[in-house]
Amino acid sequence: MNQYIVHGNRPLFGEVTISGAKNAAVAIVPAALLVDGVCRIENVPQISDVTLLFSILESLGAKVRVLNQHAVEIDSHAIHSTKATFDQVRKIRASYYLIGALLGRFGEATVAMPGGCNFGVRPIDQHIKGFKALGAEVTEGNFVHAKSKGERLVGANIYMDVVSVGATMNVMMAAVLAEGTTTIENAAKEPHIVDLANFLNSMGADIKGAGTDSIRIRGVEKLAGGTYGIIPDQIEAGTYMAAVAATGGQLLIKNIIPKHMDCISAKLMEMGVYIEEMDDTLLVRRSEPLQRANVKTQPYPGFPTDMQPQIAAVMTLAQGTSLVTEAVWSNRFRYVDELKRLGAKIQVDGRVAVIEGADRLVGAPIQACDLRAGAALVVAALAAEGTTEISQVQYIERGYEDLVGKLRSVGADIQVIDVPDEEMCAGHIG
Ligand code: EPU
Repeated sequence: MNQYIVHGNRPLFGEVTISGAKNAAVAIVPAALLVDGVCRIENVPQISDVTLLFSILESLGAKVRVLNQHAVEIDSHAIHSTKATFDQVRKIRASYYLIGALLGRFGEATVAMPGGCNFGVRPIDQHIKGFKALGAEVTEGNFVHAKSKGERLVGANIYMDVVSVGATMNVMMAAVLAEGTTTIENAAKEPHIVDLANFLNSMGADIKGAGTDSIRIRGVEKLAGGTYGIIPDQIEAGTYMAAVAATGGQLLIKNIIPKHMDCISAKLMEMGVYIEEMDDTLLVRRSEPLQRANVKTQPYPGFPTDMQPQIAAVMTLAQGTSLVTEAVWSNRFRYVDELKRLGAKIQVDGRVAVIEGADRLVGAPIQACDLRAGAALVVAALAAEGTTEISQVQYIERGYEDLVGKLRSVGADIQVIDVPDEEMCAGHIG
């Protein structure tokens, strides 16, 4: 088991290059199953969620050829199985995309109920509603089994009851090869929705309206293959912005799409952080004390829930009392107890966290409980005085490519150590 050891209270200076977007990659890699040919995907982030998906695809019969650190070729011509077992999917929530992709291409999918980060009830009723509307029979138990009633799925008008990233993408995948036209109303609008649509279109699909709340998909006979580059990761970039906001200093954050960053930049600017936008780069500087702010998470283009823990970590050091309202997930404040170990003053009441800014945080042993929670602990540890030991960092490595290497390159004193399992457990009693 790895641990991060952080000697904090040092400003960050330098340049960081952002990797491909995790939440786009974890949809686009399964979507390669829809392609009856070879697709080359570039700007793929090197993270454990993606590696896991490669191995699942291989077990289904896809040929996955890693071309270099960030490019892969997937040949899904000879898929021989439409079933993914619990052992394969238990660590990765995004495995639900296997259902839409396999159902869309082969008319059948059997996928164990997915794992992933636990921050409240994570239903997939909207995904299933969409598959049923397209003409699939769906049963749920330990496995989700979806099977087309006819030879092909048939396009339909689907109105989503909640704005769901996963359901929007999953139904889009199921619909690309269906007969006729599908519309998804009340669709999610996140950048990764647009990225998946662009990927599918570049393979031969006919999807319009991605990025609005109404998406129209005209079914095509076949997706033939092609080359596609994944967009940069909005949340990875936001996490480095939060890090420099917490520590002070100046970072040039390269390879971003500025428009995607607006919702995060606006909040940090409100807190006194200087941000300058240049083509595909952001200059982020914090030299003045941080000011309090309120934030409420919302679907895109609102403030992203996946940045909520990191901005809360920054708010622990702001002057005054900040309010954080989590409106997407029912239980995404589990990291708060860990921040409190560093001296943060936070009270949680349901979906609202009240954060009383402190002058300083002080290092302590703490534990990540999910991906973004882990990122928030790193942000806080970088600003804290003394030494912080962060355990359970495998959660962080699910979604951040080389976080430690990138932080070290901008002056952070952070290292990875390998700790025997028993020692880790003993360290966390009480
Ligand atoms: N919901 C339903 N029914 C459904 C689906 C969702 O009620 O069928 C509810 C959820 O309970 C939640 C809300 O709708 O309250 C939004 O859920 P959504 O489906 O949008 O989330 P998701 O697709 O499961 C993705 C990201 C999450 C991110 C959310 C929201 C991936 C693999 N995961 O999850 O990312 O928090 O969208 O933006 O794309 C992360 O990267 O750390 C992460 C958790």
